This record gives sequence, structure tokens and C-alpha cells, in this order.
Amino acid sequence: MTDNVSVWLDNRFWQRSAAWVTGFSSILLIWLTFDTSSQIAMGSDSDLKNKITKRVPAPTVINYKITYEMSDKRGHEVPVIGEKEKFFGRDDYSEKEAAELLHLGKLGSQAKNCMNCHTLLGNGAYYAPDLTKAWIDPAWADGGPMMAMTGKKTKEEAMAEFLQHPSKYPTHERMMPNLGITEMEAKGLVAFLKHMSSIDTNGFPRNFGEMQGAIHGK
Ligand code: HEC
Repeated sequence: MTDNVSVWLDNRFWQRSAAWVTGFSSILLIWLTFDTSSQIAMGSDSDLKNKITKRVPAPTVINYKITYEMSDKRGHEVPVIGEKEKFFGRDDYSEKEAAELLHLGKLGSQAKNCMNCHTLLGNGAYYAPDLTKAWIDPAWADGGPMMAMTGKKTKEEAMAEFLQHPSKYPTHERMMPNLGITEMEAKGLVAFLKHMSSIDTNGFPRNFGEMQGAIHGK
């Protein structure tokens, strides 16, 4: 009789299977953890100088022009770091200066709770436009409505002006309130947003171009 018991009813079969599945999953998770850590590790200034693409570029990426281009291979848009570009009149921020500016922006974004209304890298609210790629939103580009509206000659100055006096420049039914952002904080926040736009987020937020176009009524 016992010889005919199906393998599916055998306790030892299930015990062994459980042990193998647990063992395999643990190894897979450990491997994925290391893989993710290396993928999201911040690049260095020399990576930028040597045109080595990193998912999260060094803070000194603020010294470069960032565009968003369709990658046929990956099927979505990816940030492309181009030539040097002036940011508040300079394109030679040292690693230390750039990191300090980004840090100021990060603290500012936490202190003023931008995520209460906006989304940053997938976290936050959907009351206001997603800020992950705000820096490369065409609305802020040369010849776009935001520079004209704020009367500023560069994207960073226009954005900093908007952040300090958002209610002066309504572009949408919903208005951003004045949050008491100082000039220095605004500069840090714009650096923070510029750096964020250079992060390769696998095409997220999806349909960024269409979403922002809709927001700005284009
Ligand atoms: C109380 C809600 C609220 C908070 C908090 C808030 N915003 Fe906004 N923000 C808005 C709204 C609403 C808009 C859209 C209004 C408009 O475009 O005039 C907006 C628009 C923007 C834009 C323009 C978006 C684009 O892509 O063109 C930027 C940049 C921005 N906010 C940055 C920030 C930053 C940085 C913070 C934190 C320091 C912040 N906001 C905090 C509500 C908010």
C-alpha cells in the first residue's frame, strides 16, 4: 500500500520543497539588494567628465545641460547629460559646492513639505504637477511661457523667482501658495530639481510630456 502513496501527499516532499524555495528566494533577494545598491549609487564628478552614464549622476551635474530624449532601445525617454551649461551664472561648481547646494534644496523641500502637494521620485501627492522632471518641463525652456511670465532670462532664475512668489505667476486653476522661500533656499531647490531631473527613473513618471502639456494647457 505505502508504495503507492502519491508524491503529492508525502510530507517530506513538501518540507524539502519549502526549504529549497526559501533558500533560493533568500539568495535571489541578497543578489537583488546588491544589484539595486550598485544601480542607485551616486556617480562621481569624473564619471560626468568622462561621459560615463550613471543612473544617479553626481551633484556637479548642475554644471551641465540636461535634456530628455526618446530611447528606442528602452522604449521611453531618458535624461541625457550634454555640454556644460551655466547655472546661476557659473558652470564650475565644485563637488563640495554642488553637494551643499543640493543639500540645502533637499532640506528646503522637506521643511516646506513639497510632497504634500507634489510627487518627487514617486513619493508624494498628486494635487500639483509631478516635480521629478520639472527641470526639463518645456514650459520652463527658452521661449516657453514661464520665462516670459517671470521676465527672467534663464530657466533657473525663472524657477527661483516662481518659487519665491508663486501666487504672482498662476498658470493653472490650482495655485501654489507662497511658502516664504528665501532667495538662497530657492537656488538650492532649483539645484535639487535640476539634479533630480538627471536621474534615470526608467521613464517615470509615464507620459511626462503629455501630463505637463495638459497642466500648462498646451
Ligand atoms: C499647498 C500645495 C503646494 C506645496 C506645498 C508646494 N507646491 Fe509647488 N505647486 C503647487 C501647485 C498647485 C502648482 C501648479 C500651479 C501653477 O503652475 O501655477 C505648483 C507648481 C510648482 C512648480 C511648477 C511645476 C512645473 O512643472 O511647471 C514647481 C517647480 C513647484 N511647484 C515647486 C515646488 C517646490 C520646490 C515646493 C516645496 C518647496 C512646492 N512646490 C510646494 C502646489 C504646491
